Amino acid sequence: MEESIDKSQALAAQFAAVEAILAKNNHDPSRMIPILQEIQDVQKYLSKDVINYVASALKVPASRVYGVATFYAHFSLSPKGRHILRICDGTACHVKKSHATLEMLSKKLGLTDDKRTTDDLMFTVELVSCLGTCGLAPVVVIDDEVHGQSTPATVEAIIDDIIAKENAAKAEQGK
Ligand code: FES
Repeated sequence: MEESIDKSQALAAQFAAVEAILAKNNHDPSRMIPILQEIQDVQKYLSKDVINYVASALKVPASRVYGVATFYAHFSLSPKGRHILRICDGTACHVKKSHATLEMLSKKLGLTDDKRTTDDLMFTVELVSCLGTCGLAPVVVIDDEVHGQSTPATVEAIIDDIIAKENAAKAEQGK
């Protein structure tokens, strides 16, 4: 019972944030892309509930919002981790063995081609095309920070650091 109250409160807070974004954009259906973009920036993904809410607020069919959300690879319909790792798989990075880092991460974090986010929502690992910094190949972007000449070992060290910091913060909260 308490859990369902928590869930509905979370949903209400989510809708309030979405409503503020819609209001800022005058509930204008022609601004659907920037609206979805802003919602995703805040909520990290576009849930089914949010897509239906946006559709009804903009007075357009939900299929139209889904159409936009699925057309652009940038939008995600499933939750993403708090830390996003983008592994470049463009030609320059590929030949310099970017896949070795992907394999290390998949093994370490229990991810597969179909499962790109860890169960605890700590990490999402994505394979992306050329990031435009080929001189630094192989490139990995971690939380918007570019790491050039990366190796499985350098990336693993960064991941371990993030995990250690999150665990320390959790332990601090539990005090
Ligand atoms: S191929 Fe990786 S940055 Fe260009």
